[in-house]
Amino acid sequence: MFLPVLLCVTLAGYAISAPTNDVRPLVVWHGLGDTYASSGIVQFGSEVKKLHPGIFVHSVYIDKDVKEDKRATFYGNINAQIALVAEQLVSIPELGRGFDAIGFSQGGQFLRGYVERYNDPPVYNLITFGSQHMGISDIPPCRSFDFLCEVARRAAKAGVYTEWAQEHLVQAQYFRDPDQLGLYMSLNGFLANINNEVMLPTARNVTYADNLASLENLILVLFAQDTTVIPKESAWFGSEAPLEEFDTFSTQSLSDSHDDQHPLGKLHQRTTARSIVPMKQQPLYIDDYIGLRRLDERGAITLETCPGGHMHLTGCWEDLVRKWVGQPF
Ligand SMILES: *[C@@H]1O[C@H](CO)[C@@H](O)[C@H](O)[C@H]1NC(C)=O
Repeated sequence: MFLPVLLCVTLAGYAISAPTNDVRPLVVWHGLGDTYASSGIVQFGSEVKKLHPGIFVHSVYIDKDVKEDKRATFYGNINAQIALVAEQLVSIPELGRGFDAIGFSQGGQFLRGYVERYNDPPVYNLITFGSQHMGISDIPPCRSFDFLCEVARRAAKAGVYTEWAQEHLVQAQYFRDPDQLGLYMSLNGFLANINNEVMLPTARNVTYADNLASLENLILVLFAQDTTVIPKESAWFGSEAPLEEFDTFSTQSLSDSHDDQHPLGKLHQRTTARSIVPMKQQPLYIDDYIGLRRLDERGAITLETCPGGHMHLTGCWEDLVRKWVGQPF
């Protein structure tokens, strides 16, 4: 009785999508200051199609008008944007059986938000390039004469946790000040929520963890020379240590150190750059707020490094896209 039914379902699935090559589609979410139809994104899509003939690629947009779409990378409410994207994705028949997803920069944590909150249709492999999974502790500098960026940056720096900023400034919604984690947990409108970094453990949303843990693979790409994302280790769920902790860390590592040849050199280094709390030392990982540890213990997290600066994809994306994208259904 079972077999014929299954067969019908499978055949129906084929009839609807009827692709030349039945491979998983790809959804791409662009980064800050970019648009869904920029030359870079269009070119990336066509390169992916060369690697995986027949693949369906969708570029996420907040607004069909490219000017508005760019503006929405600086201004707006991320929760509302993700809700809108979830509606967009569920309305595309080619994505009905699920898809792989690539997030560029902030698009990476937004896609993670989609997975945790919606995941319908489901994501198989999620690849994020230079994303800010543990937020940013400083607002990155703008390119010269980028007025849109400059205004947003100044406003965000002026009052990152104000209600207005949390409603309207995209970067403020993933700003995470390691010295004011209490403020972040209670006032951040987006990142603290999808990270389940909340004051009360009972306020954590278990659906988020179940959904993220349902990924087949999570591939986290860090740019080794990234000076835009502060700290760049955010791409790997790292964050800057709070100042108090930083002091104990440095004392500890100094007394633990058996290398007494350059003690001053080491001290100097530690006062100029804060130490990084790596993924596995984050409470979020240890107590598995979001399913990250489950994924990792299953061997489903891959940490990758690209050699260049922020979003310098040249010579770096191709192997990853060949390996993690476009597998047959
Ligand atoms: C948890 O997240 C799911 C998925 O977004 C949502 O449907 C549910 O309402 C959330 N639960 C709570 C208690 O907020």
